[in-house]
Amino acid sequence: MTVRPLQARDLPSIESIQALSPETPAWPVESYPQTLCLVAIEERSDGEETVLGFAAARQIVPQEAEILNLAVHPSARRRGIARAILLELLNMLQGEVFLEVRTSNRAAILLYESLHFARVGIRTSYYSNPGEDAIVLRLQAC
Ligand SMILES: CC(C)(COP(=O)(O)OP(=O)(O)OC[C@H]1O[C@@H](n2cnc3c(N)ncnc32)[C@H](O)[C@@H]1OP(=O)(O)O)[C@@H](O)C(=O)NCCC(=O)NCCS
Repeated sequence: MTVRPLQARDLPSIESIQALSPETPAWPVESYPQTLCLVAIEERSDGEETVLGFAAARQIVPQEAEILNLAVHPSARRRGIARAILLELLNMLQGEVFLEVRTSNRAAILLYESLHFARVGIRTSYYSNPGEDAIVLRLQAC
């Protein structure tokens, strides 16, 4: 598995992964090239690449960044892929890094807490379909 910057040819795979990941919002994939977006890929023996997961972030100001989205294909979960992508992405960010996560999304919360994100607040009714509060997490990056 390799982590590399997003390329335009990855967008259909990202769209599929989003469709299989109802825990997280499905952003229009055309917006990702404007973000800091990394993908995890597996190269097959025929040289073709399979996109296993992705994460996108933006540096809002020099002191503050946010993780916009993260998802791994269901067939590739629990192999350390999200952690590997996030660690590379965090190296590209400065200052405090924020993100929101559904209160029911135990897998993502455990992942972020394993990377030392801390809970700093709740956004009531932040999500729709289904309606749910968001937990706001923060990490002090390099
Ligand atoms: C959350 C998600 C990105 C995790 O991806 P992943 O590649 O499976 O995660 P990793 O294998 O890197 O897991 C790293 C750690 O996170 C935690 N974790 C991840 N999935 C977990 C699960 N299903 N249950 C419990 N802990 C979990 C564990 O601490 C894990 O470490 P361990 O395997 O050594 O115990 C993936 O489940 C996913 O795509 N979910 C749908 C989209 C989503 O929820 N995105 C986040 C929006 S905020």
